[in-house]
Amino acid sequence: MKTLIVGGAGYIGSHVVREFLDRGHGVTVFDNLSSGKRENLFPEAEFIHGDILDYTGLSRAASGRRGGFDAVVHLAAFKAVGESMVNPEKYSVNNINGTINILNAAVEGNIKNIIFSSSAAVFGQPEYLPIDEAHPTNPESYYGFTKLEIERFLGWYDKLKGIRFAALRYFNAAGYDVKGRIKGLESNPANLIPVIMEAACGMRETVQIFGNDYDTPDGTGVRDYVHVSDLAIAHAAALEYTSKNDKSITVNLGSESGISVLEIVEAARRITGKPIPARIVGRRAGDPAKLTAASKKAHELLHWTANNSDLDTLIKTSWDVYQKPRR
Ligand code: WQD
Repeated sequence: MKTLIVGGAGYIGSHVVREFLDRGHGVTVFDNLSSGKRENLFPEAEFIHGDILDYTGLSRAASGRRGGFDAVVHLAAFKAVGESMVNPEKYSVNNINGTINILNAAVEGNIKNIIFSSSAAVFGQPEYLPIDEAHPTNPESYYGFTKLEIERFLGWYDKLKGIRFAALRYFNAAGYDVKGRIKGLESNPANLIPVIMEAACGMRETVQIFGNDYDTPDGTGVRDYVHVSDLAIAHAAALEYTSKNDKSITVNLGSESGISVLEIVEAARRITGKPIPARIVGRRAGDPAKLTAASKKAHELLHWTANNSDLDTLIKTSWDVYQKPRR
């Protein structure tokens, strides 16, 4: 299939591009390289340096390819939860306006499928665990709100314009390509595993552990970490689903197992052989004690399981990339 991957130079996007190329899909990457990296681009994929807020350029890209695209994969969004609470304007413009541009460009270009990076952030504080797709959506952050609103736009464009969507609600994406082909590090990461990796390789002094007084076995926060290679596979399966069945879906993507902050720090010390200094600080606002996914729907509809999401693979594949000398 011919695919336009918007945000394809980013952390998750580049893994999706690699997976699609491996499966023989045609790929055009559209990215403004604001957080995406040139080193994440593959020569087999066409690259268009463009911005989703430039509608003319975007619609030209979406309509321009001879024969058109079968699908657009949309991974171009800001994703820092804390930042979205102090600068919601930035998230309104990029995440919401940007997505509307993508949807309108898809209509113009007669693209019939869209695969969208949604997030577990649409759920907010858990009312029960594990979180299935029927769990109430009550986002705690403006970031999560933008993702939920976009899911609603997708529903309308499905109904009115026949664009089938897959909204993939990622839990905690982590790890790097299991075959080591993606090397771009995220700049200024705030997520736990990259922060730990930076401490392991001397890019930062210490890891702050946000609270050890939660109601969890070791007192630290428990999350559902899903390997980015597993996420990439799910995107390919989702495209197959929407295009073959002419139907939209919203699914959770998680490993269905919970790992604590301390377990991750300890595994990282063991695997890297580095001391990784860590200190307990206060809780981070808005953090629930525990979040785990029920991914039954993804198993059933996409025949997908998070096969690479065990703790050691998450850490080892990350460490392989962080260890590489650069510049
Ligand atoms: C994981 C755990 C922290 C950093 C976020 C978004 C979510 C989704 C994934 C995109 C928590 C603890 C973290 C640190 C720490 N994003 N932690 N020290 O908050 O679970 O999820 O990313 O859609 O929407 O909210 O991920 O990696 O920030 O935190 O102790 O320096 O690690 O408290 O328990 P989070 P995270």
